[in-house]
Amino acid sequence: MTGKGADVSVGGKTIELPTRSGTIGPDVIDIGTLYKNTGTFTYDPGFTSTASCESKITYIDGDEGVLLHRGYPIEQLAEHGDFLEVCYLLLYGDLPTKAQKDDFDHRVTHHTMVHEQMSRFFTGFRRDAHPMAVMCGCVGALSAFYHDSTDITDPHQRMVASLRMIAKMPTIAAMAYKYHIGQPFVYPKNDLDYASNFLRMCFAVPCEEYVVNPVLSRAMDRIFILHADHEQNASTSTVRLAGSSGANPFACIAAGIACLWGPAHGGANEAALNMLAEIGSVDRIPEYVARAKDKNDPFRLMGFGHRVYKNYDPRARIMQKTTHEVLGELGIKDDPMLEVAMELERIALTDEYFIEKKLYPNIDFYSGITLKALGFPTTMFTVLFALARTVGWIAQWNEMIEDPEQRIGRPRQLYIGEPKRDYTPVSKR
Ligand code: CMC
Repeated sequence: MTGKGADVSVGGKTIELPTRSGTIGPDVIDIGTLYKNTGTFTYDPGFTSTASCESKITYIDGDEGVLLHRGYPIEQLAEHGDFLEVCYLLLYGDLPTKAQKDDFDHRVTHHTMVHEQMSRFFTGFRRDAHPMAVMCGCVGALSAFYHDSTDITDPHQRMVASLRMIAKMPTIAAMAYKYHIGQPFVYPKNDLDYASNFLRMCFAVPCEEYVVNPVLSRAMDRIFILHADHEQNASTSTVRLAGSSGANPFACIAAGIACLWGPAHGGANEAALNMLAEIGSVDRIPEYVARAKDKNDPFRLMGFGHRVYKNYDPRARIMQKTTHEVLGELGIKDDPMLEVAMELERIALTDEYFIEKKLYPNIDFYSGITLKALGFPTTMFTVLFALARTVGWIAQWNEMIEDPEQRIGRPRQLYIGEPKRDYTPVSKR
């Protein structure tokens, strides 16, 4: 949709730039012709005011704390849907009928095994390697195994690659975990749902029967739903940028995993739990809040703040409820970390600094406590985020390939280095 134009004056010359309106959310000024007409670029490090693409997948209203996937509120999807239903929604644009859902579940379930030769990749890594390092390597390596789904111009091959990744990511994540703790790999089991299968691949051992706890598997599934997509965040933009050059989907998702690893992004759940452990007890909270407010101290409250949400992250609310359900099911009462988390949240939400800067708990604040209770070590937290976000990356990558306006991503820069100068031989320097 095109809106009314925006006048821009540069060096005494005024040009009218078209504006575009989405279905909801702020309009955008299309600056595509700015350089051609005025010889200037725009400058927006961190993309705080720049839309990089059109998208129909996810909508966030950060001021109101709203998150919609294909128009459906995250609260409704997390309450009533399951992860594979959300995957279908993100990939195809609509909720599946019963027959479509059965078919999709079947296709994902029957792609969960990885090429047997891949299992030998793992032994090349040091046992103490961070599982995110292993994930980056193994997911990138998928392109060496599945040549028949790397032609990005073929929609069928793109969908095969998409399903392969959604299906195989839990298997690779579980293998990374098993390798890390020195236990044998557990193969997927087709009569289990996605989340139960993943829990079994992580926690079953060959010497005894593993019975999936339905409350825990539902919690795992909900955690996957909450992480499924989040529009043009750093890792998704990385996947789109990598994909814009025509790179194959497995390589693009490996790039997304690498970006997600950082503590300002997906690594925050690990960092949040480490921070809660470091604080240790409620009486030490004021010391850490003071540090977070001190301009000269780089310390930040991990799990607080968000580039887009200037209100309570809607995912954090659902996550908090899930945390209580998991701890209740496991009979964990008086968890010291939960106690610190609840009190920290209370203090931060009433503190002038956090109120003024609109810093609210984000999803990572509670997810760490839940994942720890489920039995995962902190190093696996970001891996689980990557597993769930794969569908978002894939849906956004597919959307980009199909976008007729898509071109290779190539930002410009404001050069502040030396102007042209002449080379001097080393003897004269
Ligand atoms: N603790 C203390 N102060 C903070 C925090 C925090 N967690 N987050 C932001 N601020 C302050 C910051 O110092 C700045 O103050 P000032 O205006 O005086 O310079 C102001 O709030 C704005 O912060 P910013 O860094 O300019 O905001 P940003 O949009 O660039 O960064 C963020 C967003 C998420 C990287 C940041 O809030 C942060 O580092 N949070 C902690 C890490 C974290 O929890 N990340 C998970 C994000 S949600 C999961 C995901 O999608 O990946």
